[in-house]
Amino acid sequence: MKAKRLLAGLALAGAVALAATGCSGSGSGGAGSTDGASGDVITVGFAQTGSESGWRSANTESMKEAFSAENGFDLVFNAADNKPEAQIAAVRNFINQGVDAIVLAPIVSDGWDDVLKEAKDAGIPVILEDRTVSAPDDLYESWVGLDFEKEGETAGKWVADNYGKQPTNLVVLEGTTGSSAATDRATGFNSAIEGSQIKVLDSQTGNFTRADGKTVMEGFLQKYGSEINVLFAQNDDMGLGALDAIKAAGLTPGQDIKIVTIDAVKDGMTALADGEFNYIVECNPLLGDQVAQVVKDVLAGKTVDKQYIVEDQAFDQEQAKAVLDSRPY
Ligand code: AHR
Repeated sequence: MKAKRLLAGLALAGAVALAATGCSGSGSGGAGSTDGASGDVITVGFAQTGSESGWRSANTESMKEAFSAENGFDLVFNAADNKPEAQIAAVRNFINQGVDAIVLAPIVSDGWDDVLKEAKDAGIPVILEDRTVSAPDDLYESWVGLDFEKEGETAGKWVADNYGKQPTNLVVLEGTTGSSAATDRATGFNSAIEGSQIKVLDSQTGNFTRADGKTVMEGFLQKYGSEINVLFAQNDDMGLGALDAIKAAGLTPGQDIKIVTIDAVKDGMTALADGEFNYIVECNPLLGDQVAQVVKDVLAGKTVDKQYIVEDQAFDQEQAKAVLDSRPY
């Protein structure tokens, strides 16, 4: 594997040599291809956040499929149970193991400078997937992810257009505190409801999980009861947990309390089609193929973009009914 890191270090020379010998097969990234250098297996350490949501399960599956042995990879997988220190330790382990490349889905944005410098000093390229970091962007090669701010903005615009023309009380279930997904979604949502008659009664983290979404919603219901008109949950799972709390309080989700979420995983889309959710903004978790291609390109010394943004859609109840059966996750 050291040979591959050497190749990354000798990026330009390597790429030229490969082109000259016609050995570069990395352009297509098709199944069964390797990094295009010498046919060696590419060892990749993937530091996943944990397993907090349906979105995360679909993302992990997509990554494992893309980084399969069949595609020329040896994947070393770590899920850090949403503990930032454990995730930093996992990345440090990957460096010590001498992997060819590291893929990181950072739980939180801050705290990455030191370990990313260590990876750079060791000549191991880091590719971010899903979320971003606040560290300088010369410490990683590329980021494959979603426009979280736009997701929040799309959700906020729909809420403002549909409920913001009359006084409306809203509560928010936020994702993991300090994650770019939570921070950027809040920024987009808040700017979109500005100037409408939406009043944010409360906003607390539910850590992107069903269990915490339920617990925090129970607290909101105890405190504000039927004053709550709308719930914005920053992911489907927290919204699904909140459904239980709303039903247990004798209220009808989707009617007494309107629910807007982000992700569009199967369970969320089912709740939307059933009329229990009112609107979902998609967050596409199927990033594996694109991340694998970027890893191969980086190791082959090709120039890659600093960021690749995957497009999202949005669904109301009728649209959810129409596409539910064809959703891949
Ligand atoms: O970073 C993406 C977010 O992380 C998803 O919206 C959420 O479900 C996941 O846990």
